[in-house]
Order: sequence, then structure tokens, then C-alpha cells
Amino acid sequence: MLTNLRPQPADKILALMQAYREDPRTDKIDLGVGVYKNAEGVTPVMRAVKEAERLLWEIETTKAYTALAGDPAYLDAMAALVLGDSVDADRLGRIATPGGTGAIRQGLELIRMASPEATVWLSAPTWPNHPSIIKYLKMPMAEYRYFDEATRDVDFAGMMEDLAQVRRGDVVLLHGCCHNPTGANLTEDQWQEVAALLDEKGAIPFIDIAYQGFGDGLEADAFGTRLLAGRFPEMLIAASCSKNFGIYRERTGILMAVAPDAGLQPVTQANLAYLNRQNYSFPPDHGARIVSMILADRQLREAWETELEEVRTGMLAIREALAEELRRLTNSDRFDFIARHRGMFSRLGATPEQVAFMREKFGIYMVGDSRINIAGLNERTVPILARAMVEAGV
Ligand code: LMR
Repeated sequence: MLTNLRPQPADKILALMQAYREDPRTDKIDLGVGVYKNAEGVTPVMRAVKEAERLLWEIETTKAYTALAGDPAYLDAMAALVLGDSVDADRLGRIATPGGTGAIRQGLELIRMASPEATVWLSAPTWPNHPSIIKYLKMPMAEYRYFDEATRDVDFAGMMEDLAQVRRGDVVLLHGCCHNPTGANLTEDQWQEVAALLDEKGAIPFIDIAYQGFGDGLEADAFGTRLLAGRFPEMLIAASCSKNFGIYRERTGILMAVAPDAGLQPVTQANLAYLNRQNYSFPPDHGARIVSMILADRQLREAWETELEEVRTGMLAIREALAEELRRLTNSDRFDFIARHRGMFSRLGATPEQVAFMREKFGIYMVGDSRINIAGLNERTVPILARAMVEAGV
């Protein structure tokens, strides 16, 4: 049996993580995987998380299973955080999942069960694991234009032209905020136009929101998701707590499915719970419990929101500093898009050769498509990256 196996394509983000680890240089700079790091290069446990874990240790009396769909307090708290009051709770199916990736996977499996012919439309480019999972599930897939390589903003005309080809019942996967890998995001007006077009086409939106709070703030980052949830009869939302709660390894995510009416909620919910049972039975609980404790407690929540805001504004300051340094070195404003982008990533526009040059000469690790993790930079390394970009001829 095992002799039939063939090597699988390496995930380029994970392969980069490995290459960085193996580089013996002490002054190397990691701008690869999307993990937040502070100015000292550490991914800290957030203060509210540490406190909630301490409390949990004191009060938790059992490790017996929670509900198959996950702890209801977590599901309620996350639905409120992501969706606000944009959709009636009695239309919402929800399951806790192992991370945002687990939510994406469960969402895709739900689509395949309910509507196997539906094409899933992805932004070009998108997070590489999106097409990878869809391919693995052998589902029909198509791309819509998203990023304008010249302006380094959203190619909105191209996006609308491509989405006009969507057929009734197709699923359109959209990044809720902080687009990965480009950093270019829809404006509120553009969200309105996308919503109107998809509505007219009879498409089903599937939102991946993995960075809420990293862009323009917790509320602003949920704008598009809430707009669509308030408008569409059916929709899927995959949300992650990995980044905004900094609990990457706890694998804490949620999949929500908006049903057309309250009458269809029970069957939606039952199918979601069924998928949990088939794939891993009960979802992980530790991270979910920490999240619901933080969101339900005024002081913990305040501490979390304050620290999240520090993280967000810190990344904005790095964006400004990098754009400024490049303005100084190149005597032009062509890198100002870095300050306009939002979230953890920006795609710089370097060729694979230039990316390799920066890695070899400066020990700077970025994804081959020139995506950088802004949080991998600090005051000391911003000028190093700027100089490397200029020397590479970006
Ligand atoms: C990333 O894009 O770097 C993150 O979402 C981490 C991952 O799993 O790829």
C-alpha cells in the first residue's frame, strides 16, 4: 500500500519556515509565515490569554467532552464578535473547528455535500492552502482577478468583470479583511458593489476572516462580513482566533453557516455537527474556552482589546516607517502602497530572482511571491529590508 504513495508538493510557506530555521546566520530576518512577532522577535502569549489560562486552571474541574459542535458560550461569543447583530441568531449554524483552516475545510465539505457541482471562486492570488484543499477535495474551482500588479491595489474592474461570470449557486470565497497575501483590501463602497453583483448572480459568499482586528480595528474589519451576512439568504463564514488572540497552536476556529430561514437552521446545524463527528469528533476546547472567557469578562476583554490595538498600531507604524525609508532611498513614492495596505502582509512586487537575492545576500526570508510579514520587521530591520529591496532592483 504505502509503496503507492508519491511525494506531495511542499507548502511554500511551511517550506520557507524550514529553510529559515536551517539558515545558520544570526542576523537573518524572518518575514515568512503569518505569525505576529513583537519588536524583540517574540510571539508573546497575550496578557488576557495568560490571565484566562490561570483562571481556567483554577476553576476547571473536568476535561470531559464538550458538545459536538463546541462549547455554546464560545459559539455565541464568536458569532457576536464576527457578525455583530447583522443576522438573526436563529438562522445561524455554528461549529467550533481546529483553527481557521479547520473551518475552511469543514465549509468546503459542507458545500460538497450540499451542492457538489458548485464552483468555488478564489481571488487570484489567495492563501495557497485554499486551492490546495479544494484540489484535495476534488471540487470545481475558478479564479477571479483581485490584485493589480502595477498599482498594487485591488484590481476592482477585473474582479467585477470576472465575478460577472459566476453562476447561480456558485460559491465565492472572499477574505473578510487583511487580504492574504497581498495586503490590498476592498473599500466599503467596493464591498457594497461586490454584494450587489453576487446577489444579482445568486452566488453564495464564503468569507475567510483570519485577521479581524489587525487591519483597521475589530469593528471596521468586520464591515464586509456583516454587510453580506445582513443581505444574503445563505452564506458561510470561517473565522480564526489564531492571530487576534495569538493562540496559534491551540487551533481555535469557527465555521458559521447562515441559513435562509430559522426553519432550515436545525438541518444546517445537524450537518455541521455531523461533519465534526466524521472528521475529528469533538473539536479542541482549550483555546475556545480561553476566548469565551476573555470575551465575556469586562476586564479581560478590555485588556485583550488594548493589546490587540497595540499590535495593530505597531504594524501600521512599521508600514509607515518602511514606506518612508523607501521614499528616502528611491526618491519616489512608488512604495507608498506599503503604508496603504492593511493587515499582516504586503506583496512587494519583487521577482523570484530578487526574492532569492535578498535571501542570499541579506538573509531576508519572504515568500517567493514577495509577500512579507510586516510583523517580522522592527526599527532596526526596516532600513535593512529597504536597502535590500533597492540593491535587488525591486
Ligand atoms: C500564513 O499565511 O502564513 C498563515 O496563514 C499561516 C499558514 O498556515 O500558512
